[in-house]
Amino acid sequence: MTVYLNGQFMPITEAKVSVLDRGFIFGDGVYEVIPVYSRHAFRLGEHLQRLRHSLDSIKLANPHSDTEWTDIILELIARNTPEDQYLYLHITRGAAKRDHAFPNPPVPPTVFLLSNPLNTPPASLLHSGISAISAPDNRWLRCDIKAISLLPNVLLRQMAIDAGCAETIMIRDNAFMTEGAASNIFVVKNGILLTPPKDHLMLPGITYDVILELAAANGIPHQVRKIAAHEVFDADELLLTSSTKEVLAITLLDGKPVGAGRPGPMFTQLHGLYQDFKREVMRA
Ligand code: PDD
Repeated sequence: MTVYLNGQFMPITEAKVSVLDRGFIFGDGVYEVIPVYSRHAFRLGEHLQRLRHSLDSIKLANPHSDTEWTDIILELIARNTPEDQYLYLHITRGAAKRDHAFPNPPVPPTVFLLSNPLNTPPASLLHSGISAISAPDNRWLRCDIKAISLLPNVLLRQMAIDAGCAETIMIRDNAFMTEGAASNIFVVKNGILLTPPKDHLMLPGITYDVILELAAANGIPHQVRKIAAHEVFDADELLLTSSTKEVLAITLLDGKPVGAGRPGPMFTQLHGLYQDFKREVMRA
């Protein structure tokens, strides 16, 4: 497996960073996850734009132009064997003497890219859907930043695993739904697709955008608005989206069936549209 670290491609076993790296010490950095289908990076421009937003938000200068990022990414894809990959991009504020304040003068950032095989959900999971739990959203108020400091998300996801489930749906202030521990969430009620607006309380998902575009283009009724917690528990269907999971139905929530307890018509339609869209983009 070939990775990229600070200007060089190398086997993963040779990639080393300092123990003083601020990513290691403080979780001071941001990341991206980009799916690659048949060696084509999906929605690359949008992922690079979100990366810029994350870097700007933590006041870390973007180490590369979009052209440079694209060159690095294309080379990383070429140097790894799977046709379908998911790329992990990780940028930290670099290695410096431990002090919460930014290093002054700044030190070079650490730039790390990794390619993993992309295994989209198997047919069995598409047919059964997944189970989820709900939990209070106890994260900070800048969930729009794709920060590497993911301890709350790690604990929230593990809560689901410990309950024999795959994902945790988060409820903020006991009142409204934000997202999943590592995914965005859509609610379906009476044939209408509902999802929260992008704000500081959720990650602006790239897959979320694709789903909303597909809904608009195909005349699927949809609303982007605050989703009350009770609407999640009373949903006809629940859908999860992310770059690695694409679109999945959540068929069991807190041990109770969601709607009919199996993937519904909205899931089937959107999953089909998503697969068609992927194929079209890759052909183009
Ligand atoms: N996570 N919300 C959170 C908290 C996430 O971590 C993710 C994705 C999403 C979905 O965003 P996108 O559609 O752009 O993948 C929403 C990635 C896959 C991860 O951390 O591995």
